[in-house]
Amino acid sequence: MSHPMTSQDGVEHPSASSPEDRPYLPAMGNPRLLRFYDAFTRLVGVRSAQWQLVAQAGIAPGHTVLEIGAGTGTVLLLAKRAVGSATVIGLDPDVQALAFARRRAVHDGLQLRLDHGYADRLPYPDGSVDRVLSALMFHHLPGAEKVAALREAHRVLNPGGSLHLVDLDGEQPGVIGRLMHRRHEHNDQAPRGDQSPADRPAALRGPETASAADVVRLMREAGFDEACAVGRRRTAAGVVRFYRAERDNPQPGTRST
Ligand SMILES: C[S@@+](CC[C@H](N)C(=O)[O-])C[C@H]1O[C@@H](n2cnc3c(N)ncnc32)[C@H](O)[C@@H]1O
Repeated sequence: MSHPMTSQDGVEHPSASSPEDRPYLPAMGNPRLLRFYDAFTRLVGVRSAQWQLVAQAGIAPGHTVLEIGAGTGTVLLLAKRAVGSATVIGLDPDVQALAFARRRAVHDGLQLRLDHGYADRLPYPDGSVDRVLSALMFHHLPGAEKVAALREAHRVLNPGGSLHLVDLDGEQPGVIGRLMHRRHEHNDQAPRGDQSPADRPAALRGPETASAADVVRLMREAGFDEACAVGRRRTAAGVVRFYRAERDNPQPGTRST
């Protein structure tokens, strides 16, 4: 693992001399709404999907588990509670969300590593992680960043490791999912600085949900041999779909369990 810098809030930055800050779509689409995020996910029934993802990941004692787009840390805390000896790492570009996660971990007496960063540029060595998790983050990534993030997940996984992803189904948005899209479309009409909507970075344009077929296709394109949708669940935010992708293990018998 690299040696990141740790700031006062306990959030680690890959390097103090080259902090990477670029646009991203925050949870709830707006930093001011972040404090309502956990209550919101409970209300719309997303919490059970987060728990289902952790159960599907089959985390074993001693595993290193990374969540990309960890936000306020719900999935990290569920994973750490489930398997206390696992090393649980959360990465997110939103330092405010990571500070929330830090406070929750301290409150619950659980140890997490929290890193500032982006899913398409992970600050971890090749083959250093047993499980990569991603919960409701994929639709936050603009087009080209999706496959780049999956390539990074593939790179950091050890042979036999697996990626477990849950995200909104682009073809079956719920009422709240449709409202989120409308709000972003509306925001795109408003002038923001001197940029026209067309010039605006893709990460500021709003959520980009993908169909199940597209997610599986992108996983294969990123190098995963085995990739499939493994379930669905209806929530008030829309239907969410679960996916599993495995990094090939060239030597039978040495599979990460
Ligand atoms: C809807 S929240 C989900 C948070 C958490 N996974 C959960 O289940 O509660 C999406 C998260 O993705 C993060 N995100 C946005 N762009 C990202 C990127 N390029 N790389 C990693 N995370 C990103 C946001 O900051 C936000 O915390």
